[in-house]
Amino acid sequence: MKTVLIDVIAGARPNFMKIAPIIRALEEKKGGLRYRLVHTGQHYDARMSGDFFRQLGIPDPDINLNAGSGTQAEQTAAIMIGYEKLLRESPSDLCLVVGDVTSTMACAITAQKQHVPVAHVEAGIRSGDWAMPEEINRMVTDAISNWFFTTSDTAGINLRKVGVGEERIFFVGNTMIDTLLFNLDKLRAPEFVSQAGIEKEGYFVLTLHRPSNVDDVANFSALVRAVENAVEGRWVVFPVHPRTRKALADLNAVPSNFLLVDPQPYLEFNWLVKNSMAVITDSGGITEETTVMGVPCLTLRDSTERPETISIGTNELIGTDPSKIGPAVKKVLSGQWKKGGIPPLWDGIAAVRIVDVLEQVLLPARAS
Ligand code: UD1
Repeated sequence: MKTVLIDVIAGARPNFMKIAPIIRALEEKKGGLRYRLVHTGQHYDARMSGDFFRQLGIPDPDINLNAGSGTQAEQTAAIMIGYEKLLRESPSDLCLVVGDVTSTMACAITAQKQHVPVAHVEAGIRSGDWAMPEEINRMVTDAISNWFFTTSDTAGINLRKVGVGEERIFFVGNTMIDTLLFNLDKLRAPEFVSQAGIEKEGYFVLTLHRPSNVDDVANFSALVRAVENAVEGRWVVFPVHPRTRKALADLNAVPSNFLLVDPQPYLEFNWLVKNSMAVITDSGGITEETTVMGVPCLTLRDSTERPETISIGTNELIGTDPSKIGPAVKKVLSGQWKKGGIPPLWDGIAAVRIVDVLEQVLLPARAS
């Protein structure tokens, strides 16, 4: 039987929940599709990487490029050099990248230059904000991908606008939501919840890691104070990303109702989200999870690449002006936050659709 070898690329934390169901679907499909799991090493801590592999049942990577930390250019270069070496020594038939992290873009460029076609999962989403490295990663990756798997109608519209042919766009749903629905009944409380006496629906979850929010101490400090004042003494559980830890060290004092914890594993983090009053965040992916769990989400950004989390879901863009946080939190506390719905095809089987399409587009090409 003809077979094709797919490189499944994973590099940073938000990639891991997106590849887990794709790998499961590939394992179940068997047949002519084989895969090789390539970890770029962009995220390398147990907290940022290993815990996710373990909890989500992702097999150990076949290859680790060990790229590590660095500036945007250093990271991109290290990943490209490592992946190019791999492809030259042992080529594959398709490079499958997910999301918008540096590893996504670096591997897409490298593969295409080695004449390996690229499939992009979560293609076509756009914030319009070129100050975010993720937006550049999305645009570059989509400019050189062969197949586009989308999470929303809007993503497909964005791709058609720049001339991508209809036959290359597949609206399949959301693999991050596949992972959430698959794990919903396995979510579990972190130990610190009972130790600190935190009660269900009596606390907020805060995550901040965007350079624009955490790299400037005055700005970061103003956001922290605004959240402290807004929540009227309730707990704020704050899992601290490594980048944010550096900013916290420069802060004079951490509010006493803030519980600072390490980055949480997947099952614990989503338990915290599901049982919170609301989430305050500058993440993109979390806005999708809060939408599906029906939890109010206050996004501290001026733009989003995921407009359906606002038009359909429970998310609102609050912006980065600290004075906007108080009124928004008041809406939550008074029970006035909107109720949301679930976007089309966010139903738990996006990865199965992706693997079906891969089989249709890759195997006939190989046979001819
Ligand atoms: C990356 C993604 C971002 C995603 C975020 C989630 C890009 C451009 N951005 O940002 O979209 O929301 O991951 O986590 O790819 N560090 C550690 N241990 C690790 C990894 C990183 O301590 O395992 C530290 C390093 O000091 C590093 C910093 O965290 O400099 C930031 O890591 P980096 O990979 O550069 O980007 P993120 O901010 O994590």
